[in-house]
Amino acid sequence: MTERVLLVGGGGREHAIARALADSEADLFACAGNRNPGIAAVAEGFETLDTTTPPAVVSYAEDVDANLAVIGPEAALEAGVADALDDAGVYTFGPQENEARIETDKGFQRRFMEENDVPGCPDFEEFRDMDAACEYVDEYDGDLAIKPAGLTGGKGVRVMGDQIDAEEAKAYIRDSDYDRIVLEERLVGEEFTIQGFVANGQLRVTPAVQDHKRAYEGDEGPNTGGMGSYSDGSLELPFMSEDEYREAVDVMEAVVDALDGYKGVLYGQFMLTADGIKVVEFNARFGDPEAMNTLPVLATDFLDVLTAARDGDDLPKLSFERQATVCKYAVPDGYPTDPEAGAKVTIDDESAGDAILFYASVDERDDGIYTTTSRSFAVVGVADSITEAEEMAEDALEKAGTEGLRVRHDIGKPDLVQQRIDHMTELRD
Ligand code: AMP
Ligand code: GLY
Repeated sequence: MTERVLLVGGGGREHAIARALADSEADLFACAGNRNPGIAAVAEGFETLDTTTPPAVVSYAEDVDANLAVIGPEAALEAGVADALDDAGVYTFGPQENEARIETDKGFQRRFMEENDVPGCPDFEEFRDMDAACEYVDEYDGDLAIKPAGLTGGKGVRVMGDQIDAEEAKAYIRDSDYDRIVLEERLVGEEFTIQGFVANGQLRVTPAVQDHKRAYEGDEGPNTGGMGSYSDGSLELPFMSEDEYREAVDVMEAVVDALDGYKGVLYGQFMLTADGIKVVEFNARFGDPEAMNTLPVLATDFLDVLTAARDGDDLPKLSFERQATVCKYAVPDGYPTDPEAGAKVTIDDESAGDAILFYASVDERDDGIYTTTSRSFAVVGVADSITEAEEMAEDALEKAGTEGLRVRHDIGKPDLVQQRIDHMTELRD
């Protein structure tokens, strides 16, 4: 039987999901706030709608007679779109609002870890009273990460000793209008992501990926949703051991054991520190950009994961091409603080050459494809080594041109990968 799959979301991550389903026994229908030309090209139908309005998504799912759904963005999960689709009889690979709190409420996330003895939880406190939070900053012996409890698109966290000092931390706490703030021990080390598929009490994990959050080369500038990322031909990354990868997977297993009924992607963001693996955060969905590293090397049919999840079967054991990947985003000039929208995007599959092109926050209009205020498109090289994959991504960017856009050219280059390895060696000494 051909499945009828509804994909919710129109970014690079969702284009990667669409591409992963394009050759499967599935008719794909998509809905998003923007018309993503990459998704539209492989979908049978594409509807522009507000994906945080559950009735609008359900109505489209019913119009196209969907029997499965996949949700990309966290805002839709927080709005209860999975609950509404499940209630309408459309099995949704994405957690319901309550389970999505593992991402959407950072206070809940930390308390959940503490109450369920999930390993790797840093010291933390949650505050509603901002004066008390400032006192905590004054009294705490060491640097803290200041984290708004709700969703901020990856842009709300400030880290003392890295981006700001104690006085700036207090000014940030006082001047921003957050109702709840989590203050937690600053973790020092190298970050990595593991994404796992979860359903029916099972977890199936994918290779580790390292994202680059900071806007500018050399890890300078403000945090972004992620400027690019790489993975290696193995499950782990060059700065970590296989045992460390396994230790992080054990943390994710503990979450799945404690979160009854969770379904969808569980994303673990970890810090490899001198004292082992610590949890930076969990997300309730694929990473963006990390989905663009992982799905192209997934040899197992992603549709088989979705149907097994829906049908209450064992999830398939996953297999992966043993290839490295490097993903680089092109973002509007001024992103993330003062992005300039409206540049014409000229790259297409042909100009991307050997690299894979994923459109993100662009809008397809009658006379062409235009940038919006968020990340525009990404290119992904897939090759035998990180170095070759990086060169493939750069060739695509050079051929296609990136006028009016900015790229972190350092991502995946041998120098930066070596710096990560050296950083860990130094910390372990
Ligand atoms: P999040 O929104 O939780 O993904 O945080 C964004 C970024 O802030 C992370 O990717 C880290 O680089 C940084 N961060 C968050 N929590 C901590 C922490 N406890 N220590 C150091 N850095 C952190
Ligand atoms: N790349 C970070 C995220 O998706 O949250």
